[in-house]
Amino acid sequence: MTTSAPAEPTLRLVRLDAPFTDQKPGTSGLRKSSQQFEQANYLESFVEAVFRTLPGVQGGTLVLGGDGRYGNRRAIDVILRMGAAHGLSKVIVTTGGILSTPAASNLIRQRQAIGGIILSASHNPGGPNGDFGVKVNGANGGPTPASFTDAVFECTKTLEQYTIVDAAAIAIDTPGSYSIGAMQVEVIDGVDDFVALMQQLFDFDRIRELIRSDFPLAFDAMHAVTGPYATRLLEEILGAPAGSVRNGVPLEDFGGGHPDPNLTYAHELAELLLDGEEFRFGAACDGDGDRNMILGQHCFVNPSDSLAVLTANATVAPAYADGLAGVARSMPTSSAVDVVAKELGIDCYETPTGWKFFGNLLDAGKITLCGEESFGTGSNHVREKDGLWAVLFWLQILAERRCSVAEIMAEHWKRFGRHYYSRHDYEAVASDAAHGLFHRLEGMLPGLVGQSFAGRSVSAADNFSYTDPVDGSVTKGQGLRILLEDGSRVMVRLSGTGTKGATIRVYLESYVPSSGDLNQDPQVALADMISAINELAEIKQRTGMDRPTVIT
Ligand code: G6P
Ligand code: ZN
Repeated sequence: MTTSAPAEPTLRLVRLDAPFTDQKPGTSGLRKSSQQFEQANYLESFVEAVFRTLPGVQGGTLVLGGDGRYGNRRAIDVILRMGAAHGLSKVIVTTGGILSTPAASNLIRQRQAIGGIILSASHNPGGPNGDFGVKVNGANGGPTPASFTDAVFECTKTLEQYTIVDAAAIAIDTPGSYSIGAMQVEVIDGVDDFVALMQQLFDFDRIRELIRSDFPLAFDAMHAVTGPYATRLLEEILGAPAGSVRNGVPLEDFGGGHPDPNLTYAHELAELLLDGEEFRFGAACDGDGDRNMILGQHCFVNPSDSLAVLTANATVAPAYADGLAGVARSMPTSSAVDVVAKELGIDCYETPTGWKFFGNLLDAGKITLCGEESFGTGSNHVREKDGLWAVLFWLQILAERRCSVAEIMAEHWKRFGRHYYSRHDYEAVASDAAHGLFHRLEGMLPGLVGQSFAGRSVSAADNFSYTDPVDGSVTKGQGLRILLEDGSRVMVRLSGTGTKGATIRVYLESYVPSSGDLNQDPQVALADMISAINELAEIKQRTGMDRPTVIT
């Protein structure tokens, strides 16, 4: 532990030439290009609005860290000095500024902080030509609700000035207690508390037995935040051989990669597992550690199916041995978990896209597990999705069942039927073209009911609206749905997390009961729906794209 003498900071008031008008947070905080964040006072404007809006700043404790991307260290320095100017009593920063999103959620809860600021643009590329982001989580450890982010946006639009103190940079690479004026800065290892939490949830001895048996695994940290967490957990504690964690050193530009764990961006790992014979289990996490992809030998686990499998097998993990209160999934996530919930006799909620919508359900004890098609799975242990938690949960199930991932999937479908599912993304579409396509399709929805679509009749079509069962709040316009008579669904959304043009997401789902053909390629099983939506929405003509940029 090192201690430095309190510096004598000077409070400085900085006037903005003009307020910024583009600081509207999206699905997951304010996410912009690194270059936009490098404009003079850009970060400061947003942080000022956050400190003016977040309850309890005066005298409160804040958790601060990020995924290690370019801009992380500068932002930590600015936020610390602005926090001191705004009267925070303490900021908990993690060494090197490395803090995964789920670990931040845990720390906020453990330390009874007023919230946390996580510096990340999640799975978007980083570096001077990549993206940067600022996410604000509340006292429950979860993403702040729209009421908060709207208020922050309003504040930025008329902001005239911000306050900051001038003080020497804190040595965030060395754990210890520091101060900026009256504000204490506690630098701690960002991995320790998270590892302790995982050890409470899972039976590590059993997972260790599995890993030490003939069970070679590969985990791809994609040069992002989970490297240190995965190395500690999988190699140092659970005994996986050195090198099991790949790309484990966080880099400011993620080694030039795109830290999104899917078949496109984590293709090296995917090839190892899908084409090779060397590994029995593979997994990857995204930039800030909240997303996960699970692979077995010659087997890709669709995230919607992953949630269903975790739900069906939850009681093998000590934390969930007594069963689940309920489960939830986002609207575009497949209904695979609904079928499991029905059999277990527990509630299943359908929320809009965005982890924040699970917060009230988790806080109210209505659900224990939740997940999204966008490679997010989590539970009531924190208020964020948690990539490594999902990896450990799968390892726990495999340790218990002692079979392959492919066998787990085959048995699952044999029992519950299979929801063929795929998401087609059209990225970086000109904003006008994307919005034009979306609004045209929205206008067509009422006329579709009763019409034929992919050889089936449309039973309902709408723009999804959600009434929160806990606080009654209504969230409208959450994605277009075309529901077919046989339970199949097609959904269309515009991404809330992209930074270049617009991203159109088309989600496709079709159910085959356990007596049907369970071994098709999803693209083949969904082919008629894919061509029907392409034609109806004029995707090719309007985007100028022959095929999606990403298929998951
Ligand atoms: C982030 C959020 C998720 C959300 C995902 C997709 O990862 O945390 O909750 O599902 O973005 O968002 P998008 O709007 O790009 O489809
Ligand atoms: Zn993420």
